[in-house]
Amino acid sequence: MRAYVLRHYGGPEGSLLMDVPAPAPGPRDILVRVGAAGLNPVDFKFRQGKLRAILRPKLPLVLGNELAGEVIAVGRDVKRFRVGDRVFARVAKERAGAFAEQACVDEDAATHMPRNLDFTAAAAIPLAGLTALQALRDELHVEPGQKLFISGGAGGVGTFAIQIAKWLGAHVTTTASKRGEALVRSLGADEVIDYTVQDISSVAARFDAGFDLIGGKTLEQMFEIMKPGTKIVSIAALPEPQTAIKDLAGRRALSAMFWIISYGIRSRARRAGISYRYLFMHPSGTDLAQLAELIEQGKLKVIVDKTYPFANISEALAYLESGRAKGKVVVTMS
Ligand SMILES: NC(=O)c1ccc[n+]([C@@H]2O[C@H](COP(=O)([O-])OP(=O)(O)OC[C@H]3O[C@@H](n4cnc5c(N)ncnc54)[C@H](OP(=O)(O)O)[C@@H]3O)[C@@H](O)[C@H]2O)c1
Repeated sequence: MRAYVLRHYGGPEGSLLMDVPAPAPGPRDILVRVGAAGLNPVDFKFRQGKLRAILRPKLPLVLGNELAGEVIAVGRDVKRFRVGDRVFARVAKERAGAFAEQACVDEDAATHMPRNLDFTAAAAIPLAGLTALQALRDELHVEPGQKLFISGGAGGVGTFAIQIAKWLGAHVTTTASKRGEALVRSLGADEVIDYTVQDISSVAARFDAGFDLIGGKTLEQMFEIMKPGTKIVSIAALPEPQTAIKDLAGRRALSAMFWIISYGIRSRARRAGISYRYLFMHPSGTDLAQLAELIEQGKLKVIVDKTYPFANISEALAYLESGRAKGKVVVTMS
């Protein structure tokens, strides 16, 4: 089968489309004929080797973290799926493998596709949709009437986060440039700050919860606009000890390393009286089913910015890496 394979870390030249043997499903796996695969910044970060310390995969490795497609075989212990089912999934992090004509997925990571979507739209959901749901519902515990600040509302995660926050009842302020303003408003953002002309720290409002998708200076400025006693969850700044304990199976060495690298951010947060958490999202078929339900009920829309044929996956990744995508980027297999 054709697959996009990471052979060595570095730039795009270290990965290529090639023929590899199709994967064989283990007892709890489903084998999926991939119809489409979503792209995420983690794909090019992985390619650059930035996640080596955390995920430690063996190379060569088929890249790709999310997919939608049809089940073509099931492992002997699989209970929830049958050949012919249309499924979508965020695949296991250390296994990846979604940028291929066929991929194995643990049945717990997959769920049936929303009935009203095609493979392209379904493949755009899992990683970004789960990240937004897990951050807003499980970490920030967003409640009706709360004032929520989301940095970077126009990208893959942001377009889900705005809608999920509105579904949870929050008042949403987000940042977007002129290029993304109409989109984020159409998804329900109540206030939009054009980050290219206004400093976040100059915003007069004070917020009950913060979801940071940008990191760096943006996160620093967010500390200035939160009410004391509140919480910021970031997915783009630096991991902290809780990340290792809650999201990476309590790996002690990582916890110590994250304690050191996040010291500055945690000190900054402490001075502002705010708690800081870096979330590393996890695959979950159960959470995906919740997103599928919202989509079938018309409460959540999937925003696909660009679709590329699989043969042009390098071009698709380059576009995503430009940092300008509005919603998601997807490759289709046929
Ligand atoms: N920890 C986790 O589990 C996890 C999960 C998912 C994603 N992430 C990380 O979260 C980040 C966001 O992911 P994504 O998929 O949403 O990325 P993305 O789709 O590539 O985001 C692109 C969008 O970001 C906007 N943007 C760029 N710089 C901005 C700034 N300074 N302020 C506000 N908006 C800005 C761009 O808008 P303009 O073109 O208008 O500037 C563009 O629409 C990435 O770093 C990703 O690696 C982490």
